Amino acid sequence: MTAPSLVPMTEPAPELSVILPAFNERANIPVMVERLSRALDGIDWEVIVVDDNSPDGTSALARDLGSRDRRVRCIRRVGRRGLAGACIEGMLASSAPYVAVMDADGQHDETLLAAMVTKLRQCESDLVVASRYIDGATGTGFSTGRAKASQWSTTLARKLLKVELTDPMSGFFMLRREVIEDLAPKLSTQGFKILLDIAATGREVLRVTELPYVFGARLAGESKLDARVALDFGQLLLAKLTHDAVSYRFVLFCLVGLSGIGAHMATLAVLHGIGVPGFGLQQTIATMVAIAWNYVFNNAYTYRDQRLSGWAFARGLIEFQLICSVGAISNVGVASLIYDGGPTWWIAGFGGAVMGAVWNYTVSAAVVWKAH
Ligand code: GDD
Ligand code: MN
Repeated sequence: MTAPSLVPMTEPAPELSVILPAFNERANIPVMVERLSRALDGIDWEVIVVDDNSPDGTSALARDLGSRDRRVRCIRRVGRRGLAGACIEGMLASSAPYVAVMDADGQHDETLLAAMVTKLRQCESDLVVASRYIDGATGTGFSTGRAKASQWSTTLARKLLKVELTDPMSGFFMLRREVIEDLAPKLSTQGFKILLDIAATGREVLRVTELPYVFGARLAGESKLDARVALDFGQLLLAKLTHDAVSYRFVLFCLVGLSGIGAHMATLAVLHGIGVPGFGLQQTIATMVAIAWNYVFNNAYTYRDQRLSGWAFARGLIEFQLICSVGAISNVGVASLIYDGGPTWWIAGFGGAVMGAVWNYTVSAAVVWKAH
């Protein structure tokens, strides 16, 4: 089929879309647009602000700018949070041949964008990364603790994922749009590590160039990065190393479950010590305490992105108690079945425990923490 040619092509897409993921960056957006205008003089560009419905009204401000300047576009995402997902959606909203991602807070040096475009125009690279660590380039926007963590994760990314980048944690890069069109279905929308994900997923095919820059200080507002980043990183490593077979959540769930055994034994010791009558009653109470323990820690860590509170917390606790009781019954059932087949006690016991854990995990994910 030939392409429809009835509609005259009045104004084609610009050459470059700059994606600015933004959460509570209202004060910084006008400055960013101003800086981009200056830095991209002579290049046909647009900016796409991807705001996750920030309470400070970032998207209203971006819309206002956009109503007067067609180069300013805005995606307002409702009911969703996450840097990687915001970047992916922004890139997929572009029809430009080149797409860049950078912080909306002025920490990334926009004067590097023109050089990045030049690299892509030369047709020798598909992905251009702005690196904080080439030629000993250091930044002023980085605390020593974070610099250490960043270097450590860089080493791990290189060793485990074979990603040869000096700065795989960079949030500042530019690529050909086809790259993201191809890779998007395989990328994780969770977490911060969008570049590492792109580089690891497209490792075999991408031609990568790095350019040095100096990481600056934030204009206004505060960083959204916290200890979660370490979790995000572990999650991405695990997913990539096991080809998405092992979910990080399941690993956390099992770790919490292991700690629950400790809670169980401690409760049992106390009940025994104070003389609660009957082992059956002691064991039942200890089991309920362990399930409650697991619930609290799963809610705080395993599902911290969809943590329940208030009434939802109470309802979740009851649901979790019921689900895990069934899990305990199926655990014993499966273990007995294996034991009857050939009585190796530890294979039977382990089989039962795995059955119980998988049941508890799968059902609680579907019932207690639904949105995942
Ligand atoms: N839409 C959206 N949703 N944007 C977000 C979210 C979110 O959930 N979380 C953060 N952002 C935006 C911020 O508003 C900012 O523009 C950009 O993403 C980066 O977040 P910062 O809070 O500024 O992160 P940083 O400067 O501390 O972190 C730096 O290092 C990271 C890894 O080392 C940046 O360079 C990051 O881009 C980089 O990933
Ligand atoms: Mn930043």
